Parts: sequence; C-alpha cells; structure tokens
Amino acid sequence: MDIYEAIKERHSVRSYTNKRIPSDIILQLESEIKECNDESGLHIQLITDEPDAFNSFLAHYGKFSGVENYIALIGKKSDDLDKKIGYYGERIVIKAQQLGLNTCWVAMTFSKKKSKCIVNKGEKLLCVLSIGYGQTQGVAHKSKSMNQLCDFKGEMPEWFKKGMEYAMLAPTAMNQQKFLFSLDSGEIKVKTTGGFYSKIDLGIVIYHFEVGSGKKIWHID
Ligand SMILES: Cc1cc2nc3c(=O)[nH]c(=O)nc-3n(C[C@H](O)[C@H](O)[C@H](O)COP(=O)(O)O)c2cc1C
Repeated sequence: MDIYEAIKERHSVRSYTNKRIPSDIILQLESEIKECNDESGLHIQLITDEPDAFNSFLAHYGKFSGVENYIALIGKKSDDLDKKIGYYGERIVIKAQQLGLNTCWVAMTFSKKKSKCIVNKGEKLLCVLSIGYGQTQGVAHKSKSMNQLCDFKGEMPEWFKKGMEYAMLAPTAMNQQKFLFSLDSGEIKVKTTGGFYSKIDLGIVIYHFEVGSGKKIWHID
C-alpha cells in the first residue's frame, strides 16, 4: 500500500484481535521509529505484549479493547514538543497502516502510570498510539469543509488543494479540526484556532499536508 492509499484508508481503530504482530513487521516499525528519533531527538518507544496500560476504567470507557501493543510518544520538554510529537507520531501511524496495522492516537483514555515505557529526567510522555490488527478498519470521520480549514482567495493551486485534501483526512483530538492553512506570498502557513491538544494536531496536519502537496513545511530548528 502506498503512502497516499494508507492516508485514505487510515481511521482510528479501538478494538483489536489477539493476532500478534510478526517479528518482521516489528523490525520495520522499529526501524521507522529509530529514523524518527534520530531525526527529531524524540524518545519514541514501541511496547509490545503489554495489556496493562489499556486495562483501566478510562480505557474501557474510551471503548478500547484488546490493546496489547502501543507506541509511547515521549520527548524532552520544550516549546515545540507537542508539534514535533504530532508530526513524527503521524509519520509512524501512516507507516503502520502501510504495514497492514491499525492504530489510534490516545491522549486521555489510557493509564500513563501503568505504561511500561522509559521516561527520562526532563522528558514527558504526551500520548500513545494503540497499535495492532483491528477488529474492523474503522470509519471515515466527518470533516469540516475545505473553506472552513483554509483562508484562501483566488485560484487555488492544484498542489495546495491536494495538501488540503490530505490534511482533512488527518486525525485530530475529538475530531475538532481546529487548524487553518493559508498561502502568504508563496509561503505555506498554518495555525491552530484553539482547542485541546491542538498543537499535537498541528504537527499531524502538517505531515498530511506535506504528503498531499509534495511541499516541505517542517523544519527542525
Ligand atoms: C492528539 C489526539 C488525541 C486523541 N486522544 C484520544 C483519546 O484519548 N481517546 C480516544 O478514544 N480517541 C482519541 N483520539 C482519536 C480521535 O478521536 C480521532 O482521531 C478523531 O475522532 C478522528 O477520527 P479518525 O482518526 O478515525 O479519522 C485522539 C486523536 C488525536 C489526534
């Protein structure tokens, strides 16, 4: 499955079968995670065969079941940590989809305390991605219209439109889609319009826009 198909076919999945992730798939996931960590300085970790983090009241309340694998999204505390986690976390989500796996971003409905990950001094665990073979493939979210998600006057270039189409497919916390893209003297701009976890969402939508448009927005400072 190519990256474009993977973005179109990805939906949040909260119920998983007990099929274990084969070791060759684990290796490919680990290699993507390592590349992301090397590039970003983040400390993202894959935890397998560990049911405790999703064995809490909150997780069941959040309709999660059968979660035995997750990816802990961790990094050094900094002003741009949320955005970075969003960008690289989504890169891993899409890679997982290409490998035939299903995922869900989880900020609230899991137990941070029970998570078996290593959070070093000065680091923060922001959220996790549940990962495994879904009971279903999930369903497409309702989306705001393109007009509501970008500020654009005049003829929209095809690449910008493609970027927007892919950004609209991005997961956002509670499907809030509180982002706004614009093109200012040839420069792509994006900002959040508020809401919970909206800086993580911003990193996620930037990743989707880049894939759709073929333009680079993300720069490591
Ligand atoms: C930053 C972030 C945090 C999220 N936290 C949770 C969560 O705690 N519990 C949950 O069930 N879903 C959570 N989600 C999943 C969203 O509800 C889901 O992505 C959104 O409804 C859009 O649906 P889709 O992913 O199927 O496109 C989160 C998504 C994001 C991006």
